[in-house]
Amino acid sequence: MALTSTKEILEKAHREGYAVGAFNVNNMEILQGVIEGSQETSAPVIVAVTEGAIRYAGFDYLVAMVRVAAEEASVPVALHLDHGRDPGVIRRCIEGGFTSVMIDASHMPFEENLKATKEVVEMARPFGVSVEAELGRLKGVEDLLSVKEREATLTDPEEAERFVRETGIDFLAPAIGTSHGAFKFKGKPKLDIDRLREIKGRVGIPLVLHGASTVPPWLLELLHSYGGKLDEAKGVPPDQLREAIASGVNKVNTDTDLRLAFTVAVRKVLQESPEVFDPRKILGPARDLIKRVVMEKNRLFGSAGKAS
Ligand code: G3H
Ligand code: 13P
Ligand code: ZN
Repeated sequence: MALTSTKEILEKAHREGYAVGAFNVNNMEILQGVIEGSQETSAPVIVAVTEGAIRYAGFDYLVAMVRVAAEEASVPVALHLDHGRDPGVIRRCIEGGFTSVMIDASHMPFEENLKATKEVVEMARPFGVSVEAELGRLKGVEDLLSVKEREATLTDPEEAERFVRETGIDFLAPAIGTSHGAFKFKGKPKLDIDRLREIKGRVGIPLVLHGASTVPPWLLELLHSYGGKLDEAKGVPPDQLREAIASGVNKVNTDTDLRLAFTVAVRKVLQESPEVFDPRKILGPARDLIKRVVMEKNRLFGSAGKAS
């Protein structure tokens, strides 16, 4: 089928109380693993590309691949710009067939974020493209010195209400204690679920959780056994992710866990079969492991079985 509107996919998730995976893709094997895993679990899926992915693979290549993937797929597939910052790239995505874009002006002061976001909403509307924006800051563990400082980076529910009302965005990404990458927490992982509930109650639109990788211990163990080195890596515990979804998250952004799966599979082949030099034998297993991780994710998010 053709690409499906991100809004349609997320409004259904919002009504029925589950979340849909937004998986970052940078090349064909990652995309195919994401699509195969979603088909196998009958789950709708959001393919996310960043400005970095566009620089790496090329805009036309990525769009063409995702279009073909969607046409061949038996499940709804949406195409989303993740963390859009460059207005030129955002415009190109809106005009070039993306079903949604994220404007990430979260590093700006509130009023400037609001203004920049509103401009993107106005740009996107005539094309029927939906818009996600971020409010609050996703800080890495090493950036947070005190509890007070942490509080200041998290999304203020009152501000969230005004932000959504005045910008007209379709989806909001609040900061509730996650961060990007493989090192999310130094001590005990803790998401601010009360804050999340209050935000959901005030804004009443689909919420997005960034930095939602769980960094599965089995993947980390495999990585280390094949010579990788990611000591102290820690993700969002699956239980807390489940709670966040039950409290209003409808889109779960996942990149790190796919990167881990890809790297584990490539390391395994190279270490166990030094005679291999056929790229298909190196990247094929990476695609398969990504598929497995995506299947697990879709079951955890509750999107499995929700394709129709
Ligand atoms: O937030 C999204 C990604 O994990 C960062 O991806 O390296 O393609 O910008 P990137
Ligand atoms: P992770 O680094 O936790 O996978 O987060 C990805 C993300 O938020 C993409 O926007
Ligand atoms: Zn993100």
